[in-house]
Amino acid sequence: MKNIVVLVSGGGTNLQALIDAEKSGIIKGGKITCVISSKPDAYALERAKNNNIATRVIPRKEYSDSKSYSMAILDVLREEKADLIVLAGFMTILDECLTKEYAYKIINVHPALIPSFCGEGYYGLKVHEKALEYGVKVSGATIHFVNEKADAGAIILQGVVDIEKDDTPEILQRRIMENVEWKLLPKAVSLFCQDKIEIIDGKAYVKK
Ligand code: GAR
Repeated sequence: MKNIVVLVSGGGTNLQALIDAEKSGIIKGGKITCVISSKPDAYALERAKNNNIATRVIPRKEYSDSKSYSMAILDVLREEKADLIVLAGFMTILDECLTKEYAYKIINVHPALIPSFCGEGYYGLKVHEKALEYGVKVSGATIHFVNEKADAGAIILQGVVDIEKDDTPEILQRRIMENVEWKLLPKAVSLFCQDKIEIIDGKAYVKK
C-alpha cells in the first residue's frame, strides 16, 4: 500500500474527489495518510478531518523563500514516509530540493491544457480568465508529474471540455472540475499506486 500525502491551499474539492475515490475503491494500492496545507484556514483541512486523515499546516507566509519552505515540507514528507505526493489545488511553487528527491513521485492537477495557460502566475480562476480572454474554443485539465519548472513535468492524462459563449471564469472552472479534474486526478493516482505509469525518454505513458 503506497502512502499518499496531499498538499492543498484552498477549498479542496480535488482532495474530496480523492477521498471519495479511495472510499469507493477507485484508488487501488494507495491510501491518503496525511494532508498538508499552506494556509491555516483552507477548507480542505476540514474535509481531511471529517475523514479522519491526519493534517499538518505549514504556512507559506512564514518562510522567506521557496527553498526554505520546500525544506520544511520535505521534513514532513520524510517523516510521513510518502510514496506519492499529490498537489490538489496547491498554490505554491516547490523548489528543486524537493522536486528532485521525489522525481516522478509528485502529481499535480492544472486547470488547462498544458502547454496552454500554464507556468508562473497561472493558477486557480486566473487560468480560466486567460482562456476566455484568448477566445479558445476548448479547455480542460492536465494531470502531470512535477519537476523543477512550473507546470512543465511529464503529462500523464488530459481531458477536454467545450467553452460556451456565455461562460464566466467561475462557470468554466466548475465545468472543468466536474468533467475532468475530479475524474482524472483519482484515476492518475490509482494508476501510479498500481505501478501502471512508465517513463520513457522523460514522457509518461500508461502501461497496457
Ligand atoms: C483546481 O481547479 C485546480 O486545478 C487549481 O486550483 C483549483 C483548486 O480547487 N490548481 C491550480 O491552479 C494549480 N496551479 P480545489 O481546492 O477545490 O481542489
